[in-house]
Amino acid sequence: MFADSSHVILRDRQLRDLPVLTRWLTDPGAEWRRWDAPYFHAETTTETMRAYVDHLAQTPPDPDEQVIDLNGECVGMVNRSEESPGGGGWWDLGILIYDPRHWGGGVGTRALARWVADTFTWTDAHVVTVTTWGGNERMIGAARRVGFRECMRVREARVVDGRRYDSVRLDLLRSEWRARAGTLG
Ligand SMILES: CC(C)(COP(=O)(O)OP(=O)(O)OC[C@H]1O[C@@H](n2cnc3c(N)ncnc32)[C@H](O)[C@@H]1OP(=O)(O)O)[C@@H](O)C(=O)NCCC(=O)NCCS
Repeated sequence: MFADSSHVILRDRQLRDLPVLTRWLTDPGAEWRRWDAPYFHAETTTETMRAYVDHLAQTPPDPDEQVIDLNGECVGMVNRSEESPGGGGWWDLGILIYDPRHWGGGVGTRALARWVADTFTWTDAHVVTVTTWGGNERMIGAARRVGFRECMRVREARVVDGRRYDSVRLDLLRSEWRARAGTLG
Protein backbone atom coordinates (compact mmCIF):
# COMPACT_ATOMS: atom_id res chain seq x y z
CA MET A 1 0.00 0.00 0.00
CA PHE A 2 1.30 3.46 -0.82
CA ALA A 3 1.28 6.04 1.97
CA ASP A 4 0.12 9.58 1.23
CA SER A 5 3.34 11.50 1.77
CA SER A 6 1.88 14.94 1.11
CA HIS A 7 1.68 16.05 4.75
CA VAL A 8 5.03 15.07 6.13
CA ILE A 9 6.53 17.42 8.68
CA LEU A 10 9.29 17.15 11.26
CA ARG A 11 8.54 18.45 14.73
CA ASP A 12 9.56 18.21 18.38
CA ARG A 13 8.45 15.17 20.30
CA GLN A 14 5.29 15.71 22.34
CA LEU A 15 3.95 13.83 25.37
CA ARG A 16 1.20 12.31 23.26
CA ASP A 17 3.84 10.62 21.05
CA LEU A 18 5.32 8.57 23.88
CA PRO A 19 2.86 5.62 23.77
CA VAL A 20 3.40 5.29 20.00
CA LEU A 21 7.17 5.54 20.32
CA THR A 22 7.24 3.07 23.20
CA ARG A 23 5.08 0.54 21.37
CA TRP A 24 7.12 0.54 18.17
CA LEU A 25 10.58 0.92 19.63
CA THR A 26 10.31 -1.79 22.27
CA ASP A 27 8.61 -4.46 20.13
CA PRO A 28 11.35 -7.06 19.47
CA GLY A 29 9.30 -8.47 16.57
CA ALA A 30 8.74 -5.17 14.75
CA GLU A 31 9.47 -5.39 11.03
CA TRP A 32 11.68 -2.29 11.06
CA ARG A 33 14.26 -4.22 13.08
CA ARG A 34 14.91 -6.42 10.05
CA TRP A 35 16.07 -3.28 8.16
CA ASP A 36 17.58 -0.81 10.62
CA ALA A 37 21.01 -2.20 11.56
CA PRO A 38 19.79 -5.83 11.68
CA TYR A 39 23.40 -6.99 11.97
CA PHE A 40 23.50 -5.99 15.66
CA HIS A 41 22.53 -8.65 18.20
CA ALA A 42 18.77 -8.57 18.76
CA GLU A 43 19.04 -8.68 22.57
CA THR A 44 21.40 -5.70 22.58
CA THR A 45 19.01 -3.73 20.35
CA THR A 46 16.06 -4.55 22.64
CA GLU A 47 17.99 -3.35 25.71
CA THR A 48 19.19 -0.23 23.90
CA MET A 49 15.62 0.58 22.79
CA ARG A 50 14.18 0.15 26.30
CA ALA A 51 16.81 2.48 27.73
CA TYR A 52 16.19 4.92 24.89
CA VAL A 53 12.43 5.03 25.53
CA ASP A 54 13.08 5.70 29.25
CA HIS A 55 15.42 8.48 28.21
CA LEU A 56 12.77 9.97 25.90
CA ALA A 57 10.21 9.96 28.72
CA GLN A 58 12.54 11.87 31.02
CA THR A 59 14.15 14.44 28.75
CA PRO A 60 12.87 17.46 26.84
CA PRO A 61 12.85 17.38 23.02
CA ASP A 62 16.27 17.55 21.44
CA PRO A 63 16.91 19.57 18.27
CA ASP A 64 19.04 16.71 16.94
CA GLU A 65 16.08 14.35 17.08
CA GLN A 66 12.68 15.04 15.54
CA VAL A 67 9.44 13.16 15.12
CA ILE A 68 8.20 12.41 11.59
CA ASP A 69 4.57 13.52 11.55
CA LEU A 70 2.30 12.21 8.80
CA ASN A 71 -1.11 13.85 8.77
CA GLY A 72 -0.84 14.61 12.50
CA GLU A 73 0.38 11.15 13.51
CA CYS A 74 3.87 10.27 14.76
CA VAL A 75 5.13 7.64 12.29
CA GLY A 76 8.86 7.69 12.94
CA MET A 77 11.90 9.68 13.91
CA VAL A 78 14.98 11.31 12.42
CA ASN A 79 18.20 11.99 14.27
CA ARG A 80 21.67 13.33 13.62
CA SER A 81 25.04 13.21 15.30
CA GLU A 82 28.20 15.10 14.59
CA GLU A 83 31.21 13.05 13.63
CA SER A 84 34.34 13.85 15.64
CA PRO A 85 35.91 16.32 15.99
CA GLY A 86 33.10 18.69 16.93
CA GLY A 87 32.99 21.67 14.59
CA GLY A 88 34.51 19.66 11.73
CA GLY A 89 31.36 20.04 9.63
CA TRP A 90 30.39 16.37 9.17
CA TRP A 91 27.01 15.14 10.44
CA ASP A 92 25.59 11.63 10.08
CA LEU A 93 21.79 11.43 9.71
CA GLY A 94 19.43 8.63 10.72
CA ILE A 95 15.81 7.93 9.80
CA LEU A 96 13.27 5.35 10.96
CA ILE A 97 9.62 4.95 9.94
CA TYR A 98 8.05 2.34 12.21
CA ASP A 99 5.12 0.91 10.31
CA PRO A 100 5.77 -0.92 7.00
CA ARG A 101 2.40 0.42 5.78
CA HIS A 102 4.17 3.78 5.47
CA TRP A 103 7.16 2.50 3.52
CA GLY A 104 7.74 2.80 -0.20
CA GLY A 105 5.35 5.71 -0.72
CA GLY A 106 7.70 8.68 -0.53
CA VAL A 107 7.36 9.51 3.19
CA GLY A 108 11.02 8.68 3.84
CA THR A 109 12.23 10.77 0.90
CA ARG A 110 10.26 13.79 2.08
CA ALA A 111 11.27 13.41 5.72
CA LEU A 112 14.94 12.97 4.78
CA ALA A 113 14.83 16.01 2.48
CA ARG A 114 13.40 18.07 5.34
CA TRP A 115 15.99 16.72 7.76
CA VAL A 116 18.83 17.61 5.40
CA ALA A 117 17.39 21.12 5.04
CA ASP A 118 17.05 21.44 8.84
CA THR A 119 20.62 20.25 9.34
CA PHE A 120 22.11 22.64 6.81
CA THR A 121 20.01 25.47 8.27
CA TRP A 122 20.72 24.93 11.97
CA THR A 123 24.22 23.44 12.04
CA ASP A 124 27.52 24.34 10.42
CA ALA A 125 27.44 21.06 8.45
CA HIS A 126 29.56 21.10 5.33
CA VAL A 127 28.64 17.53 4.45
CA VAL A 128 26.00 15.08 5.67
CA THR A 129 26.03 11.28 5.42
CA VAL A 130 23.63 8.37 5.69
CA THR A 131 24.98 4.97 6.70
CA THR A 132 23.25 1.71 5.85
CA TRP A 133 23.79 -1.77 4.39
CA GLY A 134 23.51 -3.10 0.86
CA GLY A 135 20.22 -4.95 1.45
CA ASN A 136 18.37 -1.80 2.50
CA GLU A 137 17.36 -0.67 -0.99
CA ARG A 138 14.59 1.58 0.32
CA MET A 139 17.10 3.58 2.38
CA ILE A 140 19.56 3.80 -0.50
CA GLY A 141 16.77 4.74 -2.94
CA ALA A 142 15.34 7.44 -0.65
CA ALA A 143 18.81 8.93 -0.05
CA ARG A 144 19.57 9.02 -3.78
CA ARG A 145 16.27 10.77 -4.47
CA VAL A 146 17.27 13.48 -1.99
CA GLY A 147 20.59 13.92 -3.81
CA PHE A 148 22.98 11.74 -1.83
CA ARG A 149 25.48 9.66 -3.68
CA GLU A 150 27.53 6.70 -2.62
CA CYS A 151 30.85 7.67 -1.05
CA MET A 152 31.92 4.49 0.74
CA ARG A 153 31.30 0.80 0.48
CA VAL A 154 32.98 -1.81 2.65
CA ARG A 155 32.36 -5.03 0.83
CA GLU A 156 30.69 -7.92 2.65
CA ALA A 157 31.17 -6.24 6.04
CA ARG A 158 27.69 -6.98 7.47
CA VAL A 159 25.96 -10.29 8.14
CA VAL A 160 22.16 -10.39 7.95
CA ASP A 161 20.28 -13.71 8.16
CA GLY A 162 23.48 -15.60 7.44
CA ARG A 163 24.25 -13.63 4.26
CA ARG A 164 26.98 -11.03 3.79
CA TYR A 165 26.14 -7.51 2.58
CA ASP A 166 28.23 -4.41 1.96
CA SER A 167 28.27 -1.58 4.47
CA VAL A 168 27.21 1.49 2.46
CA ARG A 169 27.58 5.20 3.12
CA LEU A 170 26.19 8.04 1.01
CA ASP A 171 27.07 11.72 1.24
CA LEU A 172 25.66 15.11 0.25
CA LEU A 173 27.58 18.39 0.27
CA ARG A 174 25.98 21.65 1.36
CA SER A 175 26.82 23.15 -2.06
CA GLU A 176 25.04 20.28 -3.86
CA TRP A 177 22.01 20.57 -1.60
CA ARG A 178 21.85 24.33 -2.19
CA ALA A 179 21.88 23.74 -5.94
CA ARG A 180 18.95 21.29 -5.58
CA ALA A 181 17.02 23.19 -2.87
CA GLY A 182 13.34 23.49 -3.68
CA THR A 183 13.18 20.44 -5.93
CA LEU A 184 11.73 18.27 -3.12
CA GLY A 185 8.83 19.69 -1.15
C1 LIG B 1 14.39 3.46 4.92
C2 LIG B 1 13.11 4.30 4.99
C3 LIG B 1 13.32 5.50 5.90
C4 LIG B 1 12.79 4.80 3.56
O1 LIG B 1 11.58 5.49 3.61
P1 LIG B 1 10.42 5.11 2.54
O2 LIG B 1 9.28 6.01 2.79
O3 LIG B 1 10.17 3.66 2.60
O4 LIG B 1 11.17 5.49 1.19
P2 LIG B 1 10.58 6.17 -0.11
O5 LIG B 1 9.27 5.55 -0.45
O6 LIG B 1 10.61 7.64 0.06
O7 LIG B 1 11.70 5.80 -1.16
C5 LIG B 1 12.13 4.46 -1.26
C6 LIG B 1 12.97 4.25 -2.44
O8 LIG B 1 13.17 2.85 -2.54
C7 LIG B 1 12.36 2.34 -3.58
N1 LIG B 1 11.64 1.21 -3.02
C8 LIG B 1 10.43 1.20 -2.53
N2 LIG B 1 10.14 -0.04 -2.11
C9 LIG B 1 11.22 -0.80 -2.36
C10 LIG B 1 11.55 -2.16 -2.14
N3 LIG B 1 10.68 -3.01 -1.60
N4 LIG B 1 12.77 -2.58 -2.48
C11 LIG B 1 13.63 -1.75 -3.05
N5 LIG B 1 13.38 -0.45 -3.27
C12 LIG B 1 12.19 0.01 -2.92
C13 LIG B 1 11.43 3.46 -3.97
O9 LIG B 1 11.02 3.26 -5.30
C14 LIG B 1 12.32 4.65 -3.74
O10 LIG B 1 13.40 4.75 -4.65
P3 LIG B 1 13.26 5.30 -6.13
O11 LIG B 1 12.50 6.56 -6.07
O12 LIG B 1 14.68 5.49 -6.55
O13 LIG B 1 12.56 4.22 -6.88
C15 LIG B 1 11.90 3.43 5.52
O14 LIG B 1 11.60 2.44 4.57
C16 LIG B 1 12.19 2.82 6.88
O15 LIG B 1 12.12 3.49 7.90
N6 LIG B 1 12.52 1.52 6.90
C17 LIG B 1 12.75 0.81 8.15
C18 LIG B 1 13.92 1.33 8.98
C19 LIG B 1 15.16 1.60 8.16
O16 LIG B 1 15.54 0.81 7.32
N7 LIG B 1 15.82 2.73 8.47
C20 LIG B 1 17.05 3.11 7.82
C21 LIG B 1 18.20 2.55 8.55
S1 LIG B 1 19.75 3.01 7.82
